[in-house]
Amino acid sequence: MFALFAPLVLLFAVATSAHADSAAPKLANVTVLATGGTIAGTGATSTTTVGYTAATVSVQRLIQAVPELAKVANVSGEQVFQIASENMTNEHWLTLGKRVNTLLAQPNVDGIVITHGTDTLEETAYFLNLVVKSRKPVVLVGAMRPSTALSADGPINLYNAVLLAASPEAAGKGVLVALNDQIQAARDVTKVNTSTLDSFRTPELGLLGYIQGSKAFFYRQPVRKHTTESEFDISALQSLPNVEIVYGYANVGPVAVDAFMAAGAKGIIHAGVGDGSLAAKVVPALKAARAKGAIVVRASRVGQGILARNGEANDDELDFVVADTLNPQKARILLMLALTKTNNSKEIQRMFYSY
Ligand code: SIN
Repeated sequence: MFALFAPLVLLFAVATSAHADSAAPKLANVTVLATGGTIAGTGATSTTTVGYTAATVSVQRLIQAVPELAKVANVSGEQVFQIASENMTNEHWLTLGKRVNTLLAQPNVDGIVITHGTDTLEETAYFLNLVVKSRKPVVLVGAMRPSTALSADGPINLYNAVLLAASPEAAGKGVLVALNDQIQAARDVTKVNTSTLDSFRTPELGLLGYIQGSKAFFYRQPVRKHTTESEFDISALQSLPNVEIVYGYANVGPVAVDAFMAAGAKGIIHAGVGDGSLAAKVVPALKAARAKGAIVVRASRVGQGILARNGEANDDELDFVVADTLNPQKARILLMLALTKTNNSKEIQRMFYSY
């Protein structure tokens, strides 16, 4: 009897196992590019949450610390830099942007996670948002507590970031930032607190979604141009034009503008008070900068709202550009990239209304 049914049993077993194989979800290939920061930081004790050393833990140890990553993606790691993010430079950005584009051009890379210090994370995210040439997900992640701290947020943030980079829903939404279970857009997110876990916010415009129960949930998407729609190309660039930020405050004078111009600035971002107002003592210095060919962009130190063109200054007459809703540090990035394409202030104003 058994002899009669044995081939059938075997056939059933083979068919079941073939079916099981074809039904097993194929995991996405996600590359983690590590750059340092607190997520790779270590402190003297488990309660050291300030005064620790950033950028000491290697990418391999970061990945090994979260074995759950293997359930959501095939993860590989690369140590691109090992720095605290206040030391991020234009040259680091060019290196990182080129590496991201090289990796995403490969068919066996489905998404990228970049571990980064939180202090300039929003800047790197916006830079990549403008220069990555792919619809595949790129997710920046950091942590507010070092890896040695009680309730360190790095491991869960890394898990969420890898999960997001492996999610088809994350494709085509520009560069994303994932911390504290939230998904934010590179253009609009900013760090709003020196030390709490909920330091990354998108004031007024709002976050894009959440990560909950090992799934990404999106409720909005960015409408400004990014990644594959962007006109900026860094593939042949070795450096970026020198653009500096001048801060507005009571009693400010022309010294900073003059010093930056003497040092060869090609652009000045003026982080003005209120709606980008210019102190009377600064206006002659900014006019002189423009007369020398530098592009002057009026931004605001307030952090929210549209910078009104021809509002607090006659931008048409002064031939200045306004930053729209970009904060000064992101306006600096867009102006640097704009200056790689043109010196025409009207063209640059178009870019500020497009990206
Ligand atoms: C850094 O930005 O590298 C240090 C701070 C942090 O990552 O939270």
